[in-house]
Amino acid sequence: MSADSPVLQVEDLRIAFREGAAERAAVHGIGFSVAAGETLAIVGESGCGKSLTAFALLGLLPGNARARGRVRLEDHDILGLQGEAMRRLRGARIAMIFQEPMTALNPVLTVGAQIVEAIREHDAVSAAEARARAGALLARVRIPDPERRFVEYPHQLSGGMRQRVMIAMALACSPAVLVADEPTTALDVTVQAEILDLIDDLRRETGMAVVLITHDLGLVAEHADRVLVMYAGRAVETGSAASLFATPRHPYTRGLIAARPRIGSGARQRLAEIPGQVPSLGAVPRGCAFAPRCPAAGAPCRETLPLLEAAGAAAERVACLRWKDLHAPEQSPVSLDA
Ligand SMILES: Nc1ncnc2c1ncn2[C@@H]1O[C@H](COP(=O)(O)OP(=O)(O)O)[C@@H](O)[C@H]1O
Ligand code: SF4
Ligand SMILES: [Mg+2]
Repeated sequence: MSADSPVLQVEDLRIAFREGAAERAAVHGIGFSVAAGETLAIVGESGCGKSLTAFALLGLLPGNARARGRVRLEDHDILGLQGEAMRRLRGARIAMIFQEPMTALNPVLTVGAQIVEAIREHDAVSAAEARARAGALLARVRIPDPERRFVEYPHQLSGGMRQRVMIAMALACSPAVLVADEPTTALDVTVQAEILDLIDDLRRETGMAVVLITHDLGLVAEHADRVLVMYAGRAVETGSAASLFATPRHPYTRGLIAARPRIGSGARQRLAEIPGQVPSLGAVPRGCAFAPRCPAAGAPCRETLPLLEAAGAAAERVACLRWKDLHAPEQSPVSLDA
C-alpha cells in the first residue's frame, strides 16, 4: 500500500486542558498520516505534546483534556468515540505500547494470562486456542524459552522482556496501527536496538503502520520513513527521514540532530544540548515558540507565528520565518551547525 492510502489520518488535532471556565491549549492543530507498513516518527523534547497526541489517537486522554479535529482510522472517524465503541477499536485496530511497560502490565497476573486476556477481549476463541496463540506470540516477539516465561509474573522479567510482552499484547489482535510512545527510553542501548529491530520486523511481516514517538532523533534515521518534528504543541518540520537528515530546515530540527546521542566508546554521548527549555503550557511566548532558544531568531520571530509551508521538492514542510535565508549558504552567513 502506498502513502496515498493512509490507514491513519490526523487532521488539525487540537488538545486543550480545561481550567475552570477557560481552556489551556497544549496541541495546536497538528496533522499527519501513516500508510500500511510505514513508520512515522514524532520527534521532540519532553513536554512538546507527543504523548498527548498519542493518547488522543487511542481515546486515552486525561479527563480534564479535550481533543478536537479529525482522526480517521481505516474507515472510521474515531476522535471522541466513547466507551464500548472505542474499546472495540483499541487493541483490535489500534494498539499502544508505553515507555514503562511495568505500569501497563498487571503485577498479579502471569504474562501468559495477560496475553490470553488481551486475545479473548477481542476474539471469541476458546481458552485453549487463546493459550496456543499467546504462546505463539511470545515466540514471535523472540522471548527465549516462551513456555517458561508464560507462567512467570512481570516482576520476574527484565525491562526488555517486559517490553516484548507489551508488544505481544499489542499484536494480539493484529492491529492496523501500532503507537509506540518512547518504547525504549527506559532500556539500555543494546536492548533498545533489539526492541526497535523487532518492531521493524513485525511491521514488515504484518503490514501494520507504526507511529514511533521519541525524543531521540538518533533512532529516527534507522527506524522511520517519515518524520514530524514537534515543538511546543506544534509541528515545526515534516518530511521523509532521509530529507530531514540531509537537509534539516528548521533550527530546532538542526538542534535535535546536533544533540542526538551518538555511540562512542561503548556509551551514548550527547554532544551538544540545545540551550534553554521547552516552554511550559502557561508560558509559551508569542510569535515563534522556539525564538528564545533559536540562534537565528530576529525581531519578527518574536511577533509572528510561523506557519507550516512547503519547503523542497517532495512533501517537506517547515514552520520557520527564516528557513529560506538559512538555506542559501552562499548568501547567508548564519550557521547553525554545532
Ligand atoms: N494531565 C495534564 N494536565 C495538565 N497538563 C498536562 C497534562 N498532561 C500533560 N500536560 C502538559 O502538556 C504538555 C505536553 O505533554 P506531553 O504530551 O506529555 O509531552 P511529551 O510526551 O512530548 O513529553 C506539557 O507541557 C505537559 O506539562
Ligand atoms: S521563526 Fe525565527 S525563531 Fe523561529 S525557528 Fe525560525 S528563525 Fe528561529
Ligand atoms: Mg511523552
